Amino acid sequence: MKKFVALVGTNTSKSTNRKLLKYMKRRYADEADIEVVELKGLPIFKKSTEAFVPQQARDIADKIDASDGVIIGTPEYDHSIPALLSSALAWLSYGIHPLMDKPVMIVGTSYGTLGASRAQAQLRQILDSPELKATVLPSSEFLLGHSLQAFDDNGDLKSATEAQKLDGLFDDFLEFVDLTSQLDNSKKLHEQEAATAFTWDNGLTGDEQ
Ligand SMILES: Cc1cc2nc3c(=O)[nH]c(=O)nc-3n(C[C@H](O)[C@H](O)[C@H](O)COP(=O)(O)O)c2cc1C
Repeated sequence: MKKFVALVGTNTSKSTNRKLLKYMKRRYADEADIEVVELKGLPIFKKSTEAFVPQQARDIADKIDASDGVIIGTPEYDHSIPALLSSALAWLSYGIHPLMDKPVMIVGTSYGTLGASRAQAQLRQILDSPELKATVLPSSEFLLGHSLQAFDDNGDLKSATEAQKLDGLFDDFLEFVDLTSQLDNSKKLHEQEAATAFTWDNGLTGDEQ
């Protein structure tokens, strides 16, 4: 059975994005083993001379390395992804590259109508950056609007239409993971590039930090 890591893109205790990821874990338990992983507690990203990466980020990187794919649930703050998620992605591309060529599915919820659409578009752009180079499921958005009213008391989606939409996207993601596992010609090159190319801090010394 495939193993997926589902990253909760927020540190708020009450989150409809976390609810959605937990719903997916239950709903697709026969098709995949989804581990819901928190990012909360990660410090704000900071470059350093020794390129220090916090243990929590390394632990998350190890889980991603061991997985077949990643699902990211993102809220939208001021038309953007939350600072916590942006910071976490920076840690996960700072001398370590667990998301490189890793299949990724993006989902998002918002209290308003648009279902975090702008945040999801921005996240797609970020994941495309050279230090991350994730393989994002193309032209697939799960935009859950009015999220405060979208779940019943069991944490299940009330709308059968939304559930069917999510089922279709998840099935596509399962196939996408199989497809991308065959695309390995450039993987070696990406790893070499990552190991050598991204040494941003070489010029920085002493109190310039
Ligand atoms: C500072 C702030 C900014 C917000 N900006 C947006 C926004 O741009 N778009 C939106 O749909 N909701 C916005 N919201 C409302 C929700 O936080 C947002 O819908 C979020 O995606 C809900 O996800 P969550 O339930 O996982 O926290 C904002 C909330 C706060 C506190």
